[in-house]
Amino acid sequence: MSELMTLSRTILQRKRSYEGATGDFTLLLNHIALAAKVVSRQVAKAGLLDVLGKAGKDNIQGEEVQRLDVIANDLLIELLNDLPMVAAIASEEEDNLQVTQAGRLDGKYLVCFDPLDGSSNIDVNVTIGTIFSIRKRKETGREATVEDFLAPGSEQVAAGYAVYGSSTMFVYTTGDGVDGFTLDPSIGEFVLTHPDIRIPDSPRCLSGNVLNRKNWLPGTQAFWDGIANSTDERYKKTGLRYVGTLVADVHRNLLQGGVFIYPDDRKSPNGKLRILYECHPLAFVVEQAGGAATNGRERMLDIVPTGLHMRVPLIIGNKQEVALYSQMLAEHP
Ligand code: AHG
Ligand code: MN
Ligand code: MN
Repeated sequence: MSELMTLSRTILQRKRSYEGATGDFTLLLNHIALAAKVVSRQVAKAGLLDVLGKAGKDNIQGEEVQRLDVIANDLLIELLNDLPMVAAIASEEEDNLQVTQAGRLDGKYLVCFDPLDGSSNIDVNVTIGTIFSIRKRKETGREATVEDFLAPGSEQVAAGYAVYGSSTMFVYTTGDGVDGFTLDPSIGEFVLTHPDIRIPDSPRCLSGNVLNRKNWLPGTQAFWDGIANSTDERYKKTGLRYVGTLVADVHRNLLQGGVFIYPDDRKSPNGKLRILYECHPLAFVVEQAGGAATNGRERMLDIVPTGLHMRVPLIIGNKQEVALYSQMLAEHP
């Protein structure tokens, strides 16, 4: 049984020196993992449980919210609400920060999440996911404010995601490498299947909504065309892969090598993706796996959000391609 490395055992065994080895962090991460298990079950039964279809209301992004978004959001808030170490939550599905009951004054952690990433794929059976980010408050003894969340991504103490695909995986980092777990439904545990994930330095996948090309900046077009038309050995096996679920595209590129872009363009000067619960957490994971992430001008983890739902351009994946993007942007103003 010793090879049965579950999420809890891995946190304790791999992070002895990190606060992750204390009960607080392990309990918090396990609550997030529990939510992922429940969402995984809902996703598996989506068609049967009538959780498809629009929830009717729009979120702050002006997007129609799918019912699975609401289920995942409400579940995560409910689970984190009773944890004394969590002070407040920022969710894509909540306009304002959610101060928790148990930890509102003394909780040391702030949790941001995208409860259901890839909403447009819910009712067409394409992989969707949940993205989370954990930060520590600089001071406790009072209710958290939005300003407590507005810190660079480098201050995250943990980040990760669940992907609900052919299997359900849970991937996270606490700043000491990246571990991937696969849900074994027969025991209801996430089992360590991908220890120490490192992004292969061969960009198998170029990911982007290339039908937006007409609105892209010249530098973005030059980046994309340069790879698409390259005869360089490095891009011999590079193919287009874009499923429309950020976390699924990033997860595939993390395992196979590649670069994902959701850039700013003439129609969306800040791009589409949100920094607190999509770009910062995925940038932390990908950097820890040997990759990089930028908004095209600066390192993603150095950017300080100006609001809970701030959007930023995202270029994420192999270091060489992320650097090439910024170079192309600079050379083609
Ligand atoms: P969400 O469902 O949380 O709103 O995220 C959707 C995002 C992201 O997952 C994906 O990469 C992107 O939207 C796709 O956008 P386009 O359909 O504009 O390509
Ligand atoms: Mn999302
Ligand atoms: Mn979402």
